Amino acid sequence: MFDRVTGHYDRMNRLMTLGRHAAWCRDVAVGAKVPPGGSMLDIATGTGVIALAALEKYPDSTIHAVDFSERMLSEAASKPGASAIVWQYADANDLPFGDGSFDAVTHGYLLRNVDDAERVLKEQYRVLKPGGRVVILETCPPRGPLRYPVALGVRVLIPLLGRIVARDRTSYAYLQKSTLGFMTPQEVVAILHRVGFASITWKKRFFGTHMIISARKQ
Ligand SMILES: C[S@@+](CC[C@H](N)C(=O)[O-])C[C@H]1O[C@@H](n2cnc3c(N)ncnc32)[C@H](O)[C@@H]1O
Repeated sequence: MFDRVTGHYDRMNRLMTLGRHAAWCRDVAVGAKVPPGGSMLDIATGTGVIALAALEKYPDSTIHAVDFSERMLSEAASKPGASAIVWQYADANDLPFGDGSFDAVTHGYLLRNVDDAERVLKEQYRVLKPGGRVVILETCPPRGPLRYPVALGVRVLIPLLGRIVARDRTSYAYLQKSTLGFMTPQEVVAILHRVGFASITWKKRFFGTHMIISARKQ
């Protein structure tokens, strides 16, 4: 599915988030707090928006960006400035890096696509150095008084844009379902605690349909 959506991925993201996705990726990069000369891993990098934002913020750091879609990786690697990043095929369930390799790990829209979020977060804990940070960008189901109108908007607009702009009804029907069906911030925080992370904070964005969560390895 991700190979199929590569060609229109950035345009659809801009439309669906009214242009906010790039700003959230910059927020994620800022939250990673990579020390001077440090290292960062962006998982499920897709077209590389978080990895490139991190490179801009930490130009003297080493940035690795991984994904299991070869087409996404080649799209990312063709962007201006991308040659300073190490792009690599990898499955988030089984990262090809040693324990304690990175000062920070980031990912956008990964967790709702994996079978076992706890396993994937344990892998991230393993590859982080002690004191290192994980920063997560994800969708979440809207709550509160705006819950029903926002959910209706997601149900109607995403498949409609998918049909008109991307001409791909199936992928964007999946996106709509996985957005509304994913965990709340509190549920992700509970998993992070079980895995061993500390100093966990989160904020919501975009009418409560997005969250940015950060945590530190003890
Ligand atoms: C919705 S895109 C997000 C891309 C980017 N992080 C962003 O914020 O725009 C999800 C990406 O996750 C990748 N992905 C999903 N499951 C994965 C896994 N188990 N291992 C590695 N990449 C995965 C897909 O190939 C896709 O590129």
